[in-house]
Amino acid sequence: MGAVLIDGKTIAAQIRERVKEQTAAFVAKTGVKPGLAAVLVGDNPASHTYVKMKRKACAEAGIESFGFELPATTTQQELEDLINVLNIRQDVHGILVQLPLPDHLNEERVLRLVNIDKDVDGFHPENIGKLAMKGREPSFVPATPSGVMRLLDEMKVPLAGANAVVLGRSNIVGMPVALLLVRRDATVTVCHSRTKDLPGVVRQADVLIAAVGRANMVKQSWLKPGAVVIDVGINRVDDPSAKNGTRLVGDVDFEEAEQVAGMITPVPGGVGPMTIAMLLENTLTAAKRIVGEATPSKA
Ligand code: GUN
Repeated sequence: MGAVLIDGKTIAAQIRERVKEQTAAFVAKTGVKPGLAAVLVGDNPASHTYVKMKRKACAEAGIESFGFELPATTTQQELEDLINVLNIRQDVHGILVQLPLPDHLNEERVLRLVNIDKDVDGFHPENIGKLAMKGREPSFVPATPSGVMRLLDEMKVPLAGANAVVLGRSNIVGMPVALLLVRRDATVTVCHSRTKDLPGVVRQADVLIAAVGRANMVKQSWLKPGAVVIDVGINRVDDPSAKNGTRLVGDVDFEEAEQVAGMITPVPGGVGPMTIAMLLENTLTAAKRIVGEATPSKA
């Protein structure tokens, strides 16, 4: 028996449709069009693709997007000057600095500079800090982790008391998703390159979040039968049968895993589309808060 497929593409499309309707209502009521500034430094091809997709999604939702594509030679001062301008621009409600930044730039200083009310990516250290604390609410939650949680909720996956295993401890996905799972009363194990007996640890998981960036790493024998598998990985591998000679796969060996998992996300069409949907939601929320239609935060 195969696993139930978690259709992120359809769920994300529903969210985007809702954001579009709510944006239209907000514009009609306030005369203000929500605006997202997308800052991209350098020429990382994947980053260019992601920013293009985000800006297209904004346009489809009725959200203005302002693109700032800076050369790889941009200095720290130039980037900080731009952020300072965006922080006070009235037509910009959300600021997104696409990561990774080139090595010579200080990412922490840049993210700390973003106006916390416009931090739609949720990467400001104050927002991440609040995510890690009891009784605190970040103003925004990072888009991919929040998309993972939305998928689990849509599929009504019980989290309180569940054993959740997170593969990977990145700032962008692994750590924030682990914090969100703790907030929902899951018992969380974060695994990384030094974890002993990784397959044995993963086999304890009722819920597995794979976010390591290693193609097809998780095998069928690693999974507890019935486990819920959320695959955040997007890895390009050679495939002579594909038109361009490559295809995208996740961190989980899908063909194997779907034999034993209870539910599983495909790659592509699982978590990926959710990231953009959550960014749009955050941008509309930022605009509503800045313009005065208060929306409390809740991670
Ligand atoms: N790089 C990889 N994922 C993300 C993301 O969600 N936001 C930003 N800004 N950069 C990323």
